Amino acid sequence: MRVLGIETSCDETGVAIYEEGYGLRAQAVYSQAEVHAAYGGVVPELASRDHIRKTLPLIHQVLDDAGIESVDGVAYTAGPGLIGALLVGAGIGRALAWAWQVPAIGVHHMEGHLLAPLLEDPAPAFPFVALLVSGGHTQLVDVLGIGRYRILGESLDDAAGESFDKTAKILGLPYPGGPALASLAKQGDPKRFCFPRPMTDRPGLAFSFSGLKTHALQTWQTERERAADADQLRADIARAFEEAVVETLVIKCRRALRLTGRRRLVLAGGVSANRRLRQRMDEAIATLGGQTYYPRPALCTDNGAMIAFAGYQRIKSGQHEPLAFAPRARWPL
Ligand code: KG4
Ligand code: ZN
Repeated sequence: MRVLGIETSCDETGVAIYEEGYGLRAQAVYSQAEVHAAYGGVVPELASRDHIRKTLPLIHQVLDDAGIESVDGVAYTAGPGLIGALLVGAGIGRALAWAWQVPAIGVHHMEGHLLAPLLEDPAPAFPFVALLVSGGHTQLVDVLGIGRYRILGESLDDAAGESFDKTAKILGLPYPGGPALASLAKQGDPKRFCFPRPMTDRPGLAFSFSGLKTHALQTWQTERERAADADQLRADIARAFEEAVVETLVIKCRRALRLTGRRRLVLAGGVSANRRLRQRMDEAIATLGGQTYYPRPALCTDNGAMIAFAGYQRIKSGQHEPLAFAPRARWPL
């Protein structure tokens, strides 16, 4: 069975083909970063229009790369995300499935992220704890199997990626801010500032990241007047901020493994591409006798492969959708 996956929930057009017994046959991602850079963030209407331009050419490209003309199922991201952007992928995906007379399935974007590590070798065995850290979500999930998810804790305000992006903006870094902030942090002095680790001093697995961005703003405003070197100040704030997010995530993941008794921890979503996070998480989980799993960086951020794979799992278990489709901007996992 071959499944075409289409991801258009935000500012990346991702298309891929997953083949049962083989793995990924072909994949392509087009980033709209340049379209939105001048605005400092994603402009929903521009995102929809660009998905319209790019989705079909990318589908042609992956079919050509795989050397095939059609597939046995089509999966598209049905939410959560920008509604206009979702409608593009869902409309194209549903129409193609109808034309090819194959099943179509709307996939939850975060289930896509959650299952992406299963595309790697070695893949984590069930059950495991997953930390989903993206631009829209920060969640700890107990994963018992495909479709068997229990939310252990999530962010009460900003998602981890969102706080990276907002802090990057405060420091004057270009969009998309997360990777830019992470690379600036490498030049930062880890000893100059120590930012709080929010909500780690009380029990539970909830997160709160909005205060950290405010802390970064206040530090920037008070220090920049007297700073001899504004660039070094920026790097030092970036470093302290990244360290605070990373340590907070590490503390909560250790706690989640202890509370559930699981030994495997899976990280996924855009922020799981962060080098410092991977390094510190590996060290901390190893001391607990646990094992960490990550997708390769290209499968951490938004992509079509994770949607093809999640769709394949659902179609294989007999699920598919009627001709009518209804993407959802908001949709709990
Ligand atoms: O999963 P994703 O591509 O899209 C959403 O579903 O939101 O995640 C994007 C988020 C953005 O906030 C981006 O800044 C962040 O992931 N991100 C990073 C890194 N790479 C991407 N944050 C920190 N360090 C990185 N290396
Ligand atoms: Zn995502």
